[in-house]
Amino acid sequence: MDLLILLMLCCLAYFLIQIIRFIKADADLTLLWAERFGHSPESKFRGSVVWVTGASSGIGEALCYQLAKLGAQLVLSSRREDELLRVKKKCIETSNLTDKDILVLPLDLTNISAHKAATDKVVEYFGRIDILVNNSGRSQRSLCVDTDLDVFRGLMELNYFGTISLTKHVLPHMIKKKKGKIVTISSVTGFIGVPLSTGYAASKHAVQGFFNSLRIELGCYPGITVSNICPGPVQSKIVENAFTETNQPFGTTADQTYKMPAERCARLILVTAANDLNESWISGQPYLIICYFWQYAPTWAWWITGKIGQKRIENFKNGLIGLGRMSVGVNGHMSFGIRQVHREQKMVRSGPPEKPTGGPDRMQILPIFQKRLPNRRLRTKTVLLFLASSLSLQRAGRCCVNE
Ligand SMILES: NC(=O)c1ccc[n+]([C@@H]2O[C@H](COP(=O)([O-])OP(=O)(O)OC[C@H]3O[C@@H](n4cnc5c(N)ncnc54)[C@H](OP(=O)(O)O)[C@@H]3O)[C@@H](O)[C@H]2O)c1
Repeated sequence: MDLLILLMLCCLAYFLIQIIRFIKADADLTLLWAERFGHSPESKFRGSVVWVTGASSGIGEALCYQLAKLGAQLVLSSRREDELLRVKKKCIETSNLTDKDILVLPLDLTNISAHKAATDKVVEYFGRIDILVNNSGRSQRSLCVDTDLDVFRGLMELNYFGTISLTKHVLPHMIKKKKGKIVTISSVTGFIGVPLSTGYAASKHAVQGFFNSLRIELGCYPGITVSNICPGPVQSKIVENAFTETNQPFGTTADQTYKMPAERCARLILVTAANDLNESWISGQPYLIICYFWQYAPTWAWWITGKIGQKRIENFKNGLIGLGRMSVGVNGHMSFGIRQVHREQKMVRSGPPEKPTGGPDRMQILPIFQKRLPNRRLRTKTVLLFLASSLSLQRAGRCCVNE
C-alpha cells in the first residue's frame, strides 16, 4: 500500500514538474529536452559551410553572429548588399573568422533564374554546402477580401517558390556527398490558421508540406536531414516589411517587447539543427499552448483561435495593430490583452469599424471556457486529455532527438 502511495506521489510530482516546465517553456518540450540533454551547437558546427538566406536582418542576422562564434564558414544572402557587408563586418569582429571565411552573395530569392549561378558560386568558393538555412521571407497584414491577388502571388514567389528553388539547386550537392542539413524557417502559421495573414499562412503551409514530404523522399540518405522551424512572434523587421493590401510594406514598427529576442530564437534554431529535429515550435505562452492545442485538440484550437482572431480583426479595422498577448489579471484569470499601436497610414478596411477596443479590451479565456463547458466533469476531462498528450515529451512520430 505504501509503495502504491509512493508511486502515486511520484506520478503527481512528475505531472507538476511538467506543468511548471510547460508554463515556463519558450519552445516545444522536445526541443527544450534536446537543448538540455542533446547535442550542443558548439559540438556540431565548427568548420561547417552554412548558407543563410535573409542574413541582413532579424533572425537570419542573429543566426549569422552565433554561427560565426561557433566557427562555421558563412555565405550571407539577401537583396541588400550593404546590409550583408555590415553583418559580415560584425561577424568578423565578434569571432575568430577572417574575411575569406565569409562570402557575401547578394540574391533576390524571387529571381529564380539566378539560383543556379549563386549555388555554383558557393560550391566553387567553399567546395561544399553543409547546411542551407532557408530564412528569407515576408509576412502579411491585410484582410483577404481587400488584398490584391498579386500579394498572394508575391508571398508564394518568395516564401515558397524561392525557397524550394534554392533547395532544389543545393540538394544535388548534398546528395553527392550523402550529407547535409536543410533548415527552413517556417512559422507557427505553417500549421495554424491566422487572420490577416491568409497568404502568408498559405505560403508557410506549402513550405511545411514540401519539406515534410522531401524528408520522406530523402529517407535513403540518412545523412541529409530536413528541419522545419516554426517560430511564434520574434523581434525583427517582419511586421514592418509585411505585405499589405497591395505590394506596399506595412511600414509601422510595432512594440516588440513582448516578442522573443531574435538571439534566443537563433539559439533554439541551432539546437534544432544540431539534434536533427524534424520540426520545432519556438514560442513562449500563450502561443505555445495554442500549438499544442492545434496538434492534439484541433476542435478546441479552432474555437480559441476563432475568438482571438475576431479581436485581432476588430483592432485592425480600427487602425490598430492587434497583437494577442497573454497576461494574468488581478483575479488570476489568464487573458489575452491586445497591445495597441496606431498605424501611421490608416487604410480603408472592408466592413464598418468595430467598437473601439482601447482600454478594457481583454478577452478572458477562463470565464468563456466555464460558460461554454458548464459541465465540470467535461471541463476536467478536456484539460486532462490535453495535458496527457502535451506532456508527453516526444511528439509521437514527428520528432526525435538523434543520439
Ligand atoms: N519575426 C517573426 O515573428 C517570425 C515568426 C515566424 C516566422 N518568421 C520567419 O522568419 C524568417 C525571417 O524573418 P525575420 O523575422 O527575421 O524578418 P526580417 O527582419 O524582415 O528579415 C527578413 C529577411 O528576408 C530577406 N528578404 C526579404 N525579401 C527577400 C527577397 N526577395 N530575396 C532575398 N531575401 C529577402 C530580408 O533581406 P533583404 O531586405 O536585404 O532582401 C531579410 O534579411 C522569415 O521567413 C519569416 O517568415 C518570423
